[in-house]
Parts: sequence; C-alpha cells; structure tokens
Amino acid sequence: MIGKKNKAQLVVALDIDSFEKMRVLVDQLADVVEIFKVGSQLFTACGPAAVRFIEARGKKVFLDLKFHDIPNTVGSAVRSAVGLSVALERATDFHNRTPSVKKGLFMYSVHTVGGLEMMKEAVAVGTKFAEEIGVNKPLAMGVTVLTSEANKGNSVIDLVLERAAVAKKAGLDGVVASAEEAKAIHDKLGKDFLIITPGIRPLGTDPQDQKRVATPKIAVKNGSDFLVVGRPIVAAANPHKAAEAILQEMQSS
Ligand code: C5P
Repeated sequence: MIGKKNKAQLVVALDIDSFEKMRVLVDQLADVVEIFKVGSQLFTACGPAAVRFIEARGKKVFLDLKFHDIPNTVGSAVRSAVGLSVALERATDFHNRTPSVKKGLFMYSVHTVGGLEMMKEAVAVGTKFAEEIGVNKPLAMGVTVLTSEANKGNSVIDLVLERAAVAKKAGLDGVVASAEEAKAIHDKLGKDFLIITPGIRPLGTDPQDQKRVATPKIAVKNGSDFLVVGRPIVAAANPHKAAEAILQEMQSS
C-alpha cells in the first residue's frame, strides 16, 4: 500500500434537510474539506441549487443518487447530472461569487444491481455529454452492497466482488464498498479501480444503522481511495473539529 499511503480523500456526506444548514456546514468545513456528497435527502429538499452552491464555493461534488432504472432512464439522468455544472456557469453571480470550479461534477453513483447494460449506458452518455459541453467526465461509481447490510459468512464479500467485476466491465471508474472488501477488490480488479467507502466510524462512535463499519485508519490501511463520513461530522457538536480529527487519523495510517 506504499504508493497509496496518505492519498485517501475525505468526502463529507451532507445528509441534511435545508439549504441554509448546508450553506453553514459547507462554509464551516471549507478550509479542511474538498469533496462534499449530495445524496437523496439534500437533493430532494434543495435540488440542483445544492450542487451549484457547493461548486460556487470552489468545492467538488459527489452526486450520490444511486441511479437504478432502465438503461435509457439512467443514461438520461446521468446527462442531467453532467449538465448541472454548465447551468452553474450560466448562472451569473450566484450568491455574489464567481464560480471557481468550472470543470463539472466530480463524481456520481449508479447502483450495480441495474446491470451491465444500464451501467454501460451511464458511462457512454456521461462521457459523450461531458465532451460535448466541455467539462471533465465525472467519475462513475457503482454501489455494490449497502454498508448497512451485515456480512453473514462470506455472502456479502462474494456479492460485492461479483458486482464490482460487472461495474469494471461496464467501464465504471470504481465502486462504493466497505473497508472489509477494499483489499479484495483491489487485488482482483487492480489498484486503479477506485473504492469509495461509507460506514466510517472513529473508535468509540455509534455505528447507528451501519453494519460493515471501519475506523478511518483501517479504511485507509485497507486501500479505500475515498472515505465518506456523514453523521460523525455532520451531527457532531463541532463538525470542524470532528473533520480535523478524522483527517488526522487518515494521515496517520
Ligand atoms: O452518516 P453516515 O456516515 O453513516 O453516512 C454514510 C453516507 O454514505 C450516507 O449518505 C449514505 O447514503 C451513504 N452510503 C452508504 N452506503 C453505501 C452507499 C452510500 O452508507 N453503500
């Protein structure tokens, strides 16, 4: 793991329900966090404005809507996701700031359960449309098995590996998987196939609904490229301090 040492990046999951809370949190964390995750709760509440606000602050967005539908619908959703950043460029003087990230959406997710054709369509449309409108192609990540599902025997790890292999075949850039599967995925599919890991819990933290959890240190040690952290930061009394502590633990791995 020497080449990957200290390379993992923190992604903060903005699982909150209002634009104002999001604005406060992003500004509070801006000096230590580069990537923010917009998931179904925030996107349902605020829509594209959430993505545009974060990008206008010069930060990267992981749009985690876990698309899972017929290939045509998923391809169209990916097209709209890629187009969000162009709308940003056209939106002048958003909150009196000139957008500094004009490279487009950083990352989005689809669910691998949608199958090979669905994932292929997502990649094809995402690549073509990004090129057409002149933004970077966002990283396409496939959700394998939710980290809220426990591993009974080797049932989960086998399924994760199987789904990750299909994701790679479809041309995805990587998968969402727990730290428990990270090493096996890299061994089987190569170190360049990215792994983004939720279910991160610093020692002594409540796992809540997450089952396949790991500390930041273990996740980095096992090879996760991105660590997604929601409640341990977002619900902390001092989110900035919590993020700093997690970053410090990641760097000490
Ligand atoms: O609060 P917590 O740190 O558990 O948040 C984890 C985040 O990662 C949530 O936003 C959740 O939707 C997301 N996620 C997950 N498991 C996956 C994919 C995404 O927990 N397999």
